[in-house]
Amino acid sequence: MKQLNIGVIGLGEIGQVHCEMLSRIERARLVCVADIDESVSSKTAKKYKATSYTNYEDMLLHNDLEAVVVAVPDHLHKAPCLSVIAAGKHVLVEKPIAMTLEESETIIQTADKAQVKLMVGFTLRFFPQYAHAKQTVSENGLGDLVSIFARRTNLMTQPDRINGRTGVMFFLGVHDFDAMRWIVNSEPVSIYCESSTSVASKYPIENETFSIIKFENGVIGCAHIGWYLPETHPTGFDFKLDVTGNKGILNLDMVHQGVAVYGPNGGHYAYMAEPLLAEDQSFVDAVLDNTDVPVTGNDGLVATRMVLAALESIESKSTVRL
Ligand SMILES: NC(=O)c1ccc[n+]([C@@H]2O[C@H](COP(=O)([O-])OP(=O)(O)OC[C@H]3O[C@@H](n4cnc5c(N)ncnc54)[C@H](O)[C@@H]3O)[C@@H](O)[C@H]2O)c1
Repeated sequence: MKQLNIGVIGLGEIGQVHCEMLSRIERARLVCVADIDESVSSKTAKKYKATSYTNYEDMLLHNDLEAVVVAVPDHLHKAPCLSVIAAGKHVLVEKPIAMTLEESETIIQTADKAQVKLMVGFTLRFFPQYAHAKQTVSENGLGDLVSIFARRTNLMTQPDRINGRTGVMFFLGVHDFDAMRWIVNSEPVSIYCESSTSVASKYPIENETFSIIKFENGVIGCAHIGWYLPETHPTGFDFKLDVTGNKGILNLDMVHQGVAVYGPNGGHYAYMAEPLLAEDQSFVDAVLDNTDVPVTGNDGLVATRMVLAALESIESKSTVRL
């Protein structure tokens, strides 16, 4: 069986999950990993019997490397993506594709020109629950759509974990903006956003936002995005989706599904691994079978445009047209 030789750049929280998932995919072979932190890179490489690098440019010279997952922080995506593409490798870049439209477009155009596959890691599309919502709507299971509401919240300590290097809208909101557009199957036409900084954080960034999004087909969306949950919160997140049609409604609640464990050392909730397995599998399959990736660079670009419009709306206190 042909296996795809793949590498991962950035071995933090999500890079580690990608390594674990890729090691479980039959058609993939994790051959090399790179992180500027030598101890992280060598420890990860040892665990997966891969080769360790601290400089991703060196990693790109690795024999037979065919594709790369880019999982460095949000604001650093462009440089490794362009290097991966220049080396002729296919790329799965974590969300958001980039934090500016210019960087997003450069990544997309460079990948197009080099004829390598570019996929954006919008993991929600690979959660069975969100895929079910998409399918229900596609099969007209709710009648004509009227509205869609999404909530995504994390612990109030999240900005500290990521050193305030990105805001809540790029870290969390971009997921739901993409999922809403995907499920509603229509382009956004305007966004109005209000924000609050009421929960103390040492970083001067919004920690709770409410966005009203109008879609081309008339559907109204509302996204409630924030990181304000107390540290004692048992699951550390609250993810919801409500879709309303003229013949039915759909309510998705990620907190009250799956397996929650509240043990003596705190709680955990097993939800992350499987969607990422499906996401990485779909990328590997698209490269090996030369089929279209399920999440395109343009999907990444539109979601970034939506986040930037929401941030502009917070500043201007007015509706921003897309
Ligand atoms: N799909 C999801 O559900 C999901 C979840 C979490 C994070 N993310 C995204 O994944 C990306 C990484 O987030 P994270 O939370 O894992 O961050 P993190 O801070 O935990 O890890 C980032 C890693 O990148 C490394 N790094 C930084 N610059 C590098 C470089 N030039 N070369 C090699 N390594 C470098 C850091 O040393 C660190 O180990 C972000 O874009 C984030 O938005 C996606």
